[in-house]
Amino acid sequence: MQEKLKALAEAARRDITVAGEPARVEELRVRFLGKKGELSQVLGSMGKLPPEERRSLGEVANRVKAEIESLLAAALERAEGAKLEAELRGPKLDVSLPGRGVRPGRRHPVSRTLEDVVRTFARLGFDVLHGPEIELDYFNFEALNLPKDHPARDMQDTFYVETASLGLAKVPGSPVLLRTHTSPVQVRAMLNQKPPLRIVVPGRVYRRDSDLTHTPMFHQVEGLLVDRDVTFAELKGTLDAFVKAFFGSSTRTRFRPSFFPFTEPSAEVDISCTQCGGKGCRVCKQTGWLEVLGSGMVHPNVFSASGYDPREVTGFAFGMGVERLAMLRHGIGDLRMMFENDVRFLEQF
Ligand code: DAH
Repeated sequence: MQEKLKALAEAARRDITVAGEPARVEELRVRFLGKKGELSQVLGSMGKLPPEERRSLGEVANRVKAEIESLLAAALERAEGAKLEAELRGPKLDVSLPGRGVRPGRRHPVSRTLEDVVRTFARLGFDVLHGPEIELDYFNFEALNLPKDHPARDMQDTFYVETASLGLAKVPGSPVLLRTHTSPVQVRAMLNQKPPLRIVVPGRVYRRDSDLTHTPMFHQVEGLLVDRDVTFAELKGTLDAFVKAFFGSSTRTRFRPSFFPFTEPSAEVDISCTQCGGKGCRVCKQTGWLEVLGSGMVHPNVFSASGYDPREVTGFAFGMGVERLAMLRHGIGDLRMMFENDVRFLEQF
């Protein structure tokens, strides 16, 4: 047994002194000193020895155990030191590799255009207001003088929201939909505050539309001004000032009679072509003019639905598509590029 202990001590010295990693040291600790380790095995058979021998063997065993313990402690310290050292040295650095540049991000052309429009009107004294994208049929259509069977609804088919499953079933009699324009915020604003009123409303709108020049989601900015004795002249002056600020001071405006259920009279606003200045080109289809927004004097029925007295106040309203403005300003040919998130496109603005 003495021999066995000697051999064990030698094996331990040999193996532990060359252990290079902390995990390997732990492995050796288990092998030599663990519950079922080599030392326990030798000592396990000690019980059969006479007491004399047992005592002297016990002494040897204790020495061997103490030696192995100190060997393990030293090896662990060494291995951990080496590991730390390696970590501090870090991965090999190849200074000849080309660098990875950080490319700065940019604001999306739609966001920039929207902010520009809003800022221009803010300078003219308009407040900025927001409304919900999930809207009641009542605010999106009815209150804007578009009753249930009105043919003008056909141009603004939209997405309807399944109200029962959302626990919204109790909205009295009005379907819930994704708003087709920002105009419902006119009504919400008037129900909330007394005249005079001067607001712009930027936001997302939705329609069941998808082709070269239409996407199911797009952005609008709505405008509404209400006071006593507001005239069509003020509508023209305000929108002309906006167009000149936004597209440049040499841009001209033209007001063309049109129809919207929520305004009377209504006008479509054209601007002199941003591409050719009005001479006629492909962009303006040789007409020299581009249509940019809808407008008109607020219909008395809209005032009534909003709690304003149409005999006391008058006002004008307008609405414009932000993507269209951005396309005209930057000469972008395809609306869909706005939503493809291709950095080669986005980097140009
Ligand atoms: N809401 C209209 C649309 O989406 C745009 C519009 C036209 C808004 C005339 C107005 C307005 O406020 O007066 O097509």
